Amino acid sequence: MDLLAFRENLYRFILCLTSTTSNIVIYPSNHPFIKSGIGEAYAELTEMLKGRREIKFVLLRNLLVSCGVPLKFKGPSWRAFLDMLKKKKIDQMTFCAGLSLNQLEQFIIDFSSDRKDTLYSTAFIKFGNIDPEDEGKKEEFDDYGKSNDYFDSILDLGMLEPNRMVKDLYQKIMVSGTFQGDVISEIVTVFLEQIQTGGSPLTMLASLKSVDEYTFTHAVNVGILTMSLAESLGFSGSHLKDIGTAALLHDVGKIQIPEEILQKKGALDSGERKIMESHSINGARQLMKIKGLPRLALIVALEHHLKYDGGGYPHVKGKWQTNIVSQIVSIADVFDALRTKRPYREAMSPDEVERILRLGSGVSFNPFLLEHFLEGIKNKDLQSEHV
Ligand SMILES: [Fe+2]
Ligand SMILES: [Fe+2]
Repeated sequence: MDLLAFRENLYRFILCLTSTTSNIVIYPSNHPFIKSGIGEAYAELTEMLKGRREIKFVLLRNLLVSCGVPLKFKGPSWRAFLDMLKKKKIDQMTFCAGLSLNQLEQFIIDFSSDRKDTLYSTAFIKFGNIDPEDEGKKEEFDDYGKSNDYFDSILDLGMLEPNRMVKDLYQKIMVSGTFQGDVISEIVTVFLEQIQTGGSPLTMLASLKSVDEYTFTHAVNVGILTMSLAESLGFSGSHLKDIGTAALLHDVGKIQIPEEILQKKGALDSGERKIMESHSINGARQLMKIKGLPRLALIVALEHHLKYDGGGYPHVKGKWQTNIVSQIVSIADVFDALRTKRPYREAMSPDEVERILRLGSGVSFNPFLLEHFLEGIKNKDLQSEHV
């Protein structure tokens, strides 16, 4: 495994570990969210342990070193991991080959527990003080800590696994009504930095790795496309960040839609359609309860399936003028859905996507916004997803 792949692996392991340890405070340890988080962490660890006897983490001041590789990631998950190690007074932690899923599960439960300040070594997970050899490397790694290398820019938290972070955000909002403002602001800031480099938003779109991740990958892509169009229209500063937040959260209500409906291969029957369409109103209702969230987020969650001519859902009485941000999100939403392969149809070609969007001009979509959107991506390759 090359160095970059190893660091990516390490990073994903830490991300799984921190999101599971924070979820375990909310859910029982046998909850499916927790079980899948532990399973993912185990898969990452097993991958890294292939051909190795152990994976060792050493905390040197504020720098974590693993297998001689200094890690300097960014973001809330990373900070949470370092804080957790300090709180548990862990200077050194080693995972050994042969570790079982149950042993990792027990470690994660103990690691998340507020009751235990200190963890005790087992045959496959060992804790200890820093070896004199590592202690001697403090100065060397201090210099590294000040540098900014290629790996750090690639492994910047926001761009590596934004869909995993969105999944976590959606689950927390819909199940426990909590909102991680710092996480979303971090994601939106990274998108903004990327958009301002002037490249095509299409090159930034996340790729769909598995069908059950669609909702989260889609949310990331709608966030990028919406912010890109909003920025080109002149929105800026905190308003643009609120727009990004609203776009990322537009489908939060889908967390409550059963997988068999989300991934159904054939057409939905009227009962299933009703359940599917409930996601906009349920998402808005839940977002309404959360303090500190831009009001725009609940407006967009409610309105993103309302059409320009007043059709769509949820059914609204009288003359309802949708917010301009909901109108932008509705274009980005359909664009991303059409270009992606879904269980019930193949991904569409760029020409076909454009043709269908244009058919909706003035009916489903605001004509001015649609033209501006298509202009923004014109002459740039549309990459279709194939899962
Ligand atoms: Fe939606
Ligand atoms: Fe959507």
